[in-house]
Amino acid sequence: MPKTDPQDVNQQVEAHFTPEMEERGVSRRDFLKFCTAMAASLAMPFSFAPAIAQAVTDPKRPPVIWLHFQDCTACTETLLRSFHPTVEQLVLDTISVDYLETIMAAAGHQAEAAKEASLKENAGNYILVVEGSIPTKDDGIYCKIAGKTALEHLEETVPNAGALIAIGSCASWGGIPSSAPDPTGAKGLSEVYPGETVINLPGCPPNSYNLLQTIVYYLTLNKLPDLTDKSRPKFAYGTLIHENCERRPHFDNGRFAEQFGDSGHMNGWCLYKLGCKGPETYNNCPALGFNDVGANSWPVGTGHPCFGCSEEEIAFTVPMHQQSNVTTPAPPALFPRIVEEQGEGVNAGGAAIVGGIVGAAAGAAAMMAKRLQERDQLEEKMKNAQQQQDKPEE
Ligand code: SF4
Ligand code: F3S
Repeated sequence: MPKTDPQDVNQQVEAHFTPEMEERGVSRRDFLKFCTAMAASLAMPFSFAPAIAQAVTDPKRPPVIWLHFQDCTACTETLLRSFHPTVEQLVLDTISVDYLETIMAAAGHQAEAAKEASLKENAGNYILVVEGSIPTKDDGIYCKIAGKTALEHLEETVPNAGALIAIGSCASWGGIPSSAPDPTGAKGLSEVYPGETVINLPGCPPNSYNLLQTIVYYLTLNKLPDLTDKSRPKFAYGTLIHENCERRPHFDNGRFAEQFGDSGHMNGWCLYKLGCKGPETYNNCPALGFNDVGANSWPVGTGHPCFGCSEEEIAFTVPMHQQSNVTTPAPPALFPRIVEEQGEGVNAGGAAIVGGIVGAAAGAAAMMAKRLQERDQLEEKMKNAQQQQDKPEE
């Protein structure tokens, strides 16, 4: 059993810290935070942090081969925009990308040769990430790379992969390219390979931390994370957005934005009446946010209803502003109520931050440290506001 003494654990993690990381601007503290936050977000005990540190720095860890077919490239873009804990290099190094056309220096024949060498060297071990839908109509001629169709590339790579990951909604079930009239016969990876276990990470775009967590889990435990009935990791897609949303207390108290730009919208009230699909969409967006640009960096946080981008039955199918079916009307027990007498401004913010923390606890602690800091600041503000209120009038 791994030791659980925090100091011991920290030392064991730090033993894997390399001078190369330091040269790239990654501090020991960053690395420690990365490994412990990963353990927390994957529901592993703290004592697993050293195992994570070892797995992600093992020079023999399996590489990622990333195939890119019919899509807009936002899945790659979201990976390149991730920099928690301030280390996009660590993210890229951790997942050891051997082939990804968009970011590799090599091009043309050189790139193909590098891919073939890696496929040979790592047969049976590599992690195959597929981005974009796969055109299947007319023998797949609508997407060709290096003279081969997407179907042919998959024939060469799927059979010897150690794990298969479909990143984004296009690769998970066809996404936008499969919308009517679907001229290319666009399909997701699991539909093209029904006999294989494909880990679906849908989203448009998906959150790159969910990819990172999935890969770290696989590298550390040498098995796949628990999956939902739609083959999505439970740690990321196990809960409805509506259950973690920072605006949920407004929903529970019947405070809705009725139109874009009205006072409810401006005050951060619930977006249900504007067509928010959070009540039907499973994803951890409220807890993770996107691109580390601060609190609320996710669609609902910025004032736009969720359009259900990770749900095959909703995204690109159900009209954007159609109201969704609510199957969980009872308020989640962990949420604070909006209590009028505490003062509107502070309460709305308080609800938002606590909502974020609830979300983090539910399965995405990669951002937990940041949120906790925000909570401390908020508590301080609330304390000050209370002290102001309690001051006797002069
Ligand atoms: Fe949040 Fe949308 Fe649910 Fe309102 S309907 S609480 S905005 S997820
Ligand atoms: Fe997509 Fe909805 Fe999240 S639109 S990014 S699942 S908030």
